[in-house]
Amino acid sequence: MRSIYLENENATSSLGQKIGKNLFEGAVLCLNGDLGAGKTALTKAIAIGLGIEEDITSPTFTIVNEYEDGRLKLNHFDVYRIGSSDEMYDIGFEEYIDSDGVCIIEWSQIIEDILPDERLDINIKYEGEARRLEFVARGQAYEELVEEVTRA
Ligand SMILES: Nc1ncnc2c1ncn2[C@@H]1O[C@H](COP(=O)(O)OP(=O)(O)OP(=O)(O)O)[C@@H](O)[C@H]1O
Ligand SMILES: [Mg+2]
Repeated sequence: MRSIYLENENATSSLGQKIGKNLFEGAVLCLNGDLGAGKTALTKAIAIGLGIEEDITSPTFTIVNEYEDGRLKLNHFDVYRIGSSDEMYDIGFEEYIDSDGVCIIEWSQIIEDILPDERLDINIKYEGEARRLEFVARGQAYEELVEEVTRA
């Protein structure tokens, strides 16, 4: 596991943009952390890194928002309100996961049983106004991604 300390929102923003620039087709990023930890803030920065100009809004009620104006399509999920993993199949989760687009899933631990084996888990922890991001790369491509974005 690799972790990185983010002193303020600017640090979160630049790390997110770096991740966005390095993302590859079909990447799956799973974000966990308490309410207000910064999952959506990180996603916004990743979207900027992907070249998305549209405003990213939290998909808490829609479960998924799609953005097509960047280098790769972004499917942004927030599964906080999902009752069970079965509901994810109803919205076509498998098709999203198998597509060329990037999937970012807030509160992914709720649907842990249906997450793909290869993915990047990012856990965000509060350290006062600062945050600590813990990366668990599941698969070679994600290990390289973490290596790239945590390089000083
Ligand atoms: N270092 C930091 N990194 C990210 N966000 C920070 C940081 N410091 C303060 N913040 C603030 O924390 C809040 C993060 O909110 P955000 O909506 O991104 O959280 P979230 O994890 O998506 O919450 P939810 O569980 O409700 O979806 C924002 O108000 C942001 O301004
Ligand atoms: Mg959020």
